[in-house]
Order: sequence, then structure tokens, then C-alpha cells
Amino acid sequence: MIQNKTHKKIDFDKILDQVHVFAPATVANMICGFDILGFAVDSPGDEVKMYRTAEPGVRIRSIQGDEGRLPLDPDKNTVSACVKMLLRELDLQDDIGVEIELIKHMPIGSGLGSSSASTVAGLFAINTLLGNTLTKDELMPYCVEGERLACGHGHADNVAPALMGGITLIRGQEPLDIVKLPVPQDLYAGIVFPQVDVPTRDARQLIKGKVQLKDAVTQWGNIAGLISGLFLSDYELISRSMHDVLIEPTRAILIPQFYEMKRIALEHGALSFGISGSGPSVVAITKGKAVAKAATEHIQQHLSANGIDSLKFVSAVNIEGPKVL
Ligand code: HSE
Repeated sequence: MIQNKTHKKIDFDKILDQVHVFAPATVANMICGFDILGFAVDSPGDEVKMYRTAEPGVRIRSIQGDEGRLPLDPDKNTVSACVKMLLRELDLQDDIGVEIELIKHMPIGSGLGSSSASTVAGLFAINTLLGNTLTKDELMPYCVEGERLACGHGHADNVAPALMGGITLIRGQEPLDIVKLPVPQDLYAGIVFPQVDVPTRDARQLIKGKVQLKDAVTQWGNIAGLISGLFLSDYELISRSMHDVLIEPTRAILIPQFYEMKRIALEHGALSFGISGSGPSVVAITKGKAVAKAATEHIQQHLSANGIDSLKFVSAVNIEGPKVL
């Protein structure tokens, strides 16, 4: 048993030899809650396999599904860099060695919280390997730091739902104040990822720094309405509230066929439709799976007819967050 910087007791007998975990993709912003709302989905998500080694240190054994885009250098790769950071914080860097296999099931730069899913998978894996030393609340700041390493900014609207599961509100960033919100049982997401490149950095730079007071009033009315709708499981109220007058009008121009996709989703019964995170993925929020399925199928057909390849995912809101496989 050793005591470390965080004053956590590590029982070396409880450290596992290997662990295999999954962490979910996330839909940040939840249409009207820019930078403050997000939810996790059952699929897609990323997997991390972590193996304990006799030699101390953190190494990347392999990465699958990234088309060679992610670095294998353990100091440059976000997953290994986060694991190293946590081991340092626990004062275990000279005692523990791990090798990591990262398996990505979602495209990078899709607006589905790809880097967050990998970061959360990596940190959840090392924490599990160490015998669940930290609680999820204690792990969260490391996940936010991981997001900062990956994207240059440490906002938590992807990592919070990826780690906590369900729908999360980032009430405050500094200090971090995360609130878990209720998830109405039939709430589904139909996600379509048009295969065009929209880097988060560009999508953020495009947004105006100032907003009109009347637009701010509309937006906070919508956010409050959405939160009330979630508490009441009132799908009509959720539908009325999920409109974004601040960000969508600017970002939609980066996403081909955005307004046509929106028309199709709403015509097929979606409660709402908008951009997932910073895009280019779009999301139809629906009551029930059948509507999400129909909306995504018709959107995909429309994109295909316009020469745009796409991927689609239909999922309930993921309640659990990361899990051991
Ligand atoms: N809230 C962020 C944005 C999410 O919309 O830029 C980015 O993943």
C-alpha cells in the first residue's frame, strides 16, 4: 500500500494485468445549449485495451481506425499523455508500466466528441486497472485536461457526458460544476456524418463574439424550456425548445445541405434537428427509435443523391458512460 500526491491509497495487489473498456461518443451542445449541454450515445464509441508491463512508462502498442492520423508518440497522443498525467499525479510513474491499444470506431473531426471518447476511455481504463482508485468526479478534471491537450481548449461538454453518461449540464467551467439531467425514456438520436471536413477550430472561429439581447433572451428561454422538458418528460416542450438562434445560423454554412437535411428530419417526425458539436455531424432528436431510423435513412439518401457520402448512427441516450467490456 502506498500513499501518493492525491492521498489515495493504492493497493498493488488489486492492480489488474489488463483491461478492455468502451467510452461513448457524445453530442455536444444538444442543439440550443452551446458549450453547456451534451449527451452520450450508445454507438459509436472508442475502445481502449490496456496491458500492464513490467517496465514502468506508458507506450502505445497500436491504433486502429484512425487512418494513420493519430500520433504513436506517447507524449503526443492524447490518450497516453492523459494516462501519463494521471500516473504522475498518483506518484506511480516509476512503479507502473502500461501498453495501450486504441480502437477508434468514429471518425476524427466528426463533431461526435471523438477525442473525448478516446481520452475518457484511456483514463477510465487506467483507473480501472488501478482498482478504481478515483471516483468519476475525481477523474473528471483529468478528462477536461485531456480535451485541452487534444483540442487546445478545455470545455467539458463532450468529456462530461462521455464520462458520466446521460445528459449533462456544464453549469460552470471554473470551477467545474457538472449537473446530471434526467433522460426521458424514449429520447433517441439519429446522427448523420456527412463526409466533409469541418475542423472544430474553424467552426469556433466563425462564431460571432457578440449577440443581440433579443437573441440571448430567445436562447435562454429555449435552454430553460429544454431542461424543464427533460425533467417533465414533456416531448412537446423539448421539441418547442430545441432551437438554436445563436450558433446554427453561422455554422450551418459549413455543412452542405444542412437546411434540406433539417426539412427531411422534421418532415419525418423529429422533435428537433441541428448540428452535433461543431459539426459536420448533424443530429435528429426524436421520440422513439423508428423516427430516428427513418430520418437518418432519408437524410442519407438525400446526401447520396447529391454526391455526398455519409455515415449514420441511431442510438438511445447512453446512461452508463464508459464500461468495462
Ligand atoms: N461546444 C463545442 C462547440 C463542442 O460547439 O464548439 C465542440 O466539440
